[in-house]
Amino acid sequence: MDRIKIIGGNKLNGIIPISGAKNAALPLMIASLLTDDILTLENLPHLVDVELLIRILGNHGVDYSVNGRRERQDGNYFRTVHFHARHIVNTTAPYDLVAKMRASFWVIGSLLARMGEAEVSLPGGCAIGTRPVDFILDGLRALGTEINIENGYVRAKASKGLLGGQYTFPKVTVGGTHVMLMAASLARGDTVLHNAACEPEIVNLAECLNRMGANITGAGTPKIHISGVSSLSGARIKIIPDRIEIGTYAMAVAMTGGDVMLKGADPQLLDSVLQILRQMGVNIAENADGIRIQHDGNAIEPGDIETRPFPGFPTDLQAQFMGLMTRANGTSHITETIFENRFMHVQELVRLGARISLSGQTAIVEGVARLQGAQVMATDLRASVSLVIAGLSAGGETIINRVYHLDRGFECLEEKLSNCGADIKRVHG
Ligand code: EPZ
Repeated sequence: MDRIKIIGGNKLNGIIPISGAKNAALPLMIASLLTDDILTLENLPHLVDVELLIRILGNHGVDYSVNGRRERQDGNYFRTVHFHARHIVNTTAPYDLVAKMRASFWVIGSLLARMGEAEVSLPGGCAIGTRPVDFILDGLRALGTEINIENGYVRAKASKGLLGGQYTFPKVTVGGTHVMLMAASLARGDTVLHNAACEPEIVNLAECLNRMGANITGAGTPKIHISGVSSLSGARIKIIPDRIEIGTYAMAVAMTGGDVMLKGADPQLLDSVLQILRQMGVNIAENADGIRIQHDGNAIEPGDIETRPFPGFPTDLQAQFMGLMTRANGTSHITETIFENRFMHVQELVRLGARISLSGQTAIVEGVARLQGAQVMATDLRASVSLVIAGLSAGGETIINRVYHLDRGFECLEEKLSNCGADIKRVHG
């Protein structure tokens, strides 16, 4: 199995091109099931999760073609991919595919809307928590879907088509909002969603659906109104920059010191994060090219955060922030409110010399002067990258096992970092 080897201590200097957002790409790809016409996605990142979803959609009958080869333009990876679900050949999403990637459960909304039925395996638990799908199912019931759960599968049926309705999410859910947007777009009548997720990825999806002919207003606010239409057409849309990638590299520079231009980064996507980094003494300048991050490499100020739905501090940057705080000039408190089990990186950071204790959903991080390289193991995507950040600033060699987690969500990670002076490489085998 591949591993990442890092010799820490180098400052980061240069340009990092920011890729398209994984968490915007996945629902946009799923939206292709809603039309028999072509949906073209620009700026699709080259990631294992994207490849996996291409396979899953292929199982339902979605063809895809790449505009030319995967190409590099102006230092940036760039792919335009056409998705075409001319005929849906299968409305079942089997366990072996859904279990590999939770977001594939979201096909349920699009299949139901287009075909009036779907049979999708329950995704099961995962490394960051139980992650139930109850709100997704309740939302679909509110649109007139009959749901039965048998043998680990959700069997959903709307024989006469979906009907518009009202649904209030008991808790903000990104996936739930994506599914309801897709389903309600083809429902008969109006749907109003309350307590909807406001994440930029939701806005990206709503914009795409509107280009396909849907009638959605209020995306990006907690109340979304969808007037159903009878069919959707093809469209072309650009995937937004990956705000988690932006935040991750900003934190890496804050930790190692240096001067890096995050090219293509949009500051509006992560205002809460940039604000807190500024308070800690990181120099952040925004211009038309992106965001420039500068830091001298001295210990930064500690900070307290609580993860929250957008526009709050994202849970997907919690592990990286903890990595950064391990070397802060004092004690920080990090509270995870979205997922109940998202602290698996704590013990691995401790292996690198961090001082962290847990009290319920809060991690108390006492900054230390120096981290030391070690062998570490990661349990999920964001936990893995927090170990990369910590390894870049640790003395000596850090080996990160289970690299496949990183490949799910970070495009060309080693290349982007080594182009900026990091000593990082992949060891095959
Ligand atoms: C999305 O997951 C992201 N995944 C996650 O990113 C991200 O951490 C999460 O949103 C929160 O921002 C993608 O976009 C592909 P949720 P999602 O539904 O939609 C509970 C990464 O590292 N809930 O917003 O699955 C749930 O258990 C990943 O890129 C229910 O209880 O998350 C959680 O506590 C990991 N019932 C909370 O809501 C439901 O039916 C928020 O989860 C649905 C959710």
